[in-house]
Amino acid sequence: MKVVAIINHKGGVGKTTLTANLGAGFAARGQKVLVIDLDAQASLTISFFTQSEWTADLLPSRTIKHWFDGIGTDDAMVSPAELVSSPPRVQDKLSRGTGRLDLIAAHRDLTDVETALAAELISDPHQFAALHGRLREALSHKDFAEYDTVLIDCAPNFGLIAKNAVAASDLLLIPTKPDYLSTNGIDSLGLKIRSFVEEYNEHSAVPVERPAAAVVFTMVQNQNGVPIEAQRSVISRIEAREVPTFATTIRDSKSVYGPAPEHGVPVILGGTGRAQTRELRDMVSELSGRLEGIAA
Ligand SMILES: Nc1ncnc2c1ncn2[C@@H]1O[C@H](COP(=O)(O)OP(=O)(O)OP(=O)(O)O)[C@@H](O)[C@H]1O
Ligand SMILES: [Mg+2]
Repeated sequence: MKVVAIINHKGGVGKTTLTANLGAGFAARGQKVLVIDLDAQASLTISFFTQSEWTADLLPSRTIKHWFDGIGTDDAMVSPAELVSSPPRVQDKLSRGTGRLDLIAAHRDLTDVETALAAELISDPHQFAALHGRLREALSHKDFAEYDTVLIDCAPNFGLIAKNAVAASDLLLIPTKPDYLSTNGIDSLGLKIRSFVEEYNEHSAVPVERPAAAVVFTMVQNQNGVPIEAQRSVISRIEAREVPTFATTIRDSKSVYGPAPEHGVPVILGGTGRAQTRELRDMVSELSGRLEGIAA
């Protein structure tokens, strides 16, 4: 099983859209995929389920908040598999293949989890590794052994929950718009990740490797098949740095990406936007290659 967090403390850069499409893309290739929504906004969850399905079927007992809440209480025996849901419309699309896509939904009170974990950390700093390792612990449960790939969609911050995703991951995907303000945050995110992993390892009996990281350019505006000049110069500047980047980029395409969540089927499976679908498939291939290069 390989775990990938889609992370950027900057908002609105296409994290959730990419997570949904990569998840569906891997499943279309026959993989068993689990996507986890760590954002209280629940955009990933409601890209697969309707608002009313989320509210009625998932919020009461099947969200990632229930895992975090259950630890250390009498509910500690909650089995992670009980939190998993299968998005019906995507499953329909995948029915001819052997792959499947499952989701652990977000909860709108995930921010309370963040606050509770932070309070625990203040009262007992020795709990650093335990508090930041809860998602890692969940994913090591035998219930999850059957998944080939786990994709974690993070909220636009670098709080305790996002750090849980870093501690659980083999690879960090950092979606970025190719503009000055968006790329400016990459260095600071890199430093934060590095110092978090060092701190985690100082506190943990079982150290983790700092996950590999790679930038994916999203919302790229093409002209004659290449990014417009302003974006090209930003992309070249980032490529010249130490941070690895994906060769595949995701084009700017509001009319294709905007409506997909309402239909509950990501663009890569939806049959709209041929060029968009092609580059998403290329992204799945490129990510797949990178994951194969990471030792199990
Ligand atoms: N390649 C794209 N081209 C055009 N619009 C896009 C693209 N990818 C995503 N969008 C749109 O941009 C908005 C933000 O996308 P998304 O929710 O995926 O970003 P995010 O990084 O997850 O945001 P947040 O930080 O709030 O979680 C959405 O309206 C989405 O439809
Ligand atoms: Mg998002």
